[in-house]
Amino acid sequence: MARALHLITISVTVALSAYLGPLLLSHFLSKDVIRHHLTSLDLSFLPTPLLSLLQPTPSTNQTCPKHTYTTHLISLDPLLIYIPNFVSQAESRSLIDLSTPLLEPSPIVSRGADSAGSQARTSWSAPLPSDSHLVNCILSRSASFLGTLLSPGRDEMGPAQVVRYTESQKFDLHTDWFSRPRITDEDRETGRRRLYNRVATFFVILQSNITEGSGETWFPKVRPITPHTADEGRVWREHEDGGVAFKPVPGNAIFWVNLLPNGTGDARTVHAGLPVKGGVKTGMNIWPRVFFGPDA
Ligand SMILES: *[C@@H]1O[C@H](CO)[C@@H](O)[C@H](O)[C@H]1NC(C)=O
Ligand SMILES: *[C@@H]1O[C@H](CO)[C@@H](O)[C@H](O)[C@H]1NC(C)=O
Ligand SMILES: *[C@@H]1O[C@H](CO)[C@@H](O)[C@H](O)[C@H]1NC(C)=O
Repeated sequence: MARALHLITISVTVALSAYLGPLLLSHFLSKDVIRHHLTSLDLSFLPTPLLSLLQPTPSTNQTCPKHTYTTHLISLDPLLIYIPNFVSQAESRSLIDLSTPLLEPSPIVSRGADSAGSQARTSWSAPLPSDSHLVNCILSRSASFLGTLLSPGRDEMGPAQVVRYTESQKFDLHTDWFSRPRITDEDRETGRRRLYNRVATFFVILQSNITEGSGETWFPKVRPITPHTADEGRVWREHEDGGVAFKPVPGNAIFWVNLLPNGTGDARTVHAGLPVKGGVKTGMNIWPRVFFGPDA
């Protein structure tokens, strides 16, 4: 009898430690560490509560990767910030894959209307799908960078756009803000009267294999805070006709603010995509929108 009781005690102890041991352990090790060690094992012997702890939950699927970018102030007024590593190589590849089948000759905004095939802009472009998890991660990364520049509930990130330049393609000097604020297509349909303008721009290089020294993004009216002497491997240079020119470096972004505090466009943000010589340059534009006027 005593022997039988003793056996039961041992069995219960073994069973309990098999169950509670890993549970306790899981409080000390991160789920990721446990997953890393256990993913190759057959886990079916584990109790259900522990299994559910180890398996990726649907919400894990929908979280965005942490950003790894850094920031470099180039100019305070207008505000221009250079952002290395704004997107990863894998993100760039996926964004290119998403947009490549959708590329069409780029439209250009002139006097408030879009017209295709202008000589001022020779490139290909495509809006990125707004139902893509990756696109939404990049947009929320950008929204978080903007901090208080956008007003929650009033302003929007707008759609992201991919743009591709091939041999001899370019975009002559232009500004990204509209001289006359616009109404979105959806608002036009529903009769909502609010107006918007592009308060800032993220221009992100996704891919480039163009000839060195070509296809830079040039801001003739932006002066670096302190001038630099020529420096091997630098991503920007002072342009011979004034201002600053950025070479296309995959993953890196240029960010600048388009509107003055009173909402008018800042003429000093004028910039050009200089002609591409040999190869292909693919970038992504993000134009956050501030809304104002009636119904905003
Ligand atoms: C979860 O991620 C996978 C791979 O990234 C994707 O194919 C799948 O559609 C995602 N699931 C949901 C519910 O979004
Ligand atoms: C906005 O501010 C700029 C710079 O201070 C000024 O030149 C411009 O006239 C202002 N525009 C309006 C509509 O107030
Ligand atoms: C440059 O990249 C494009 C796009 O990935 C590719 O189609 C092309 O073959 C590349 N050209 C060279 C010279 O590597």
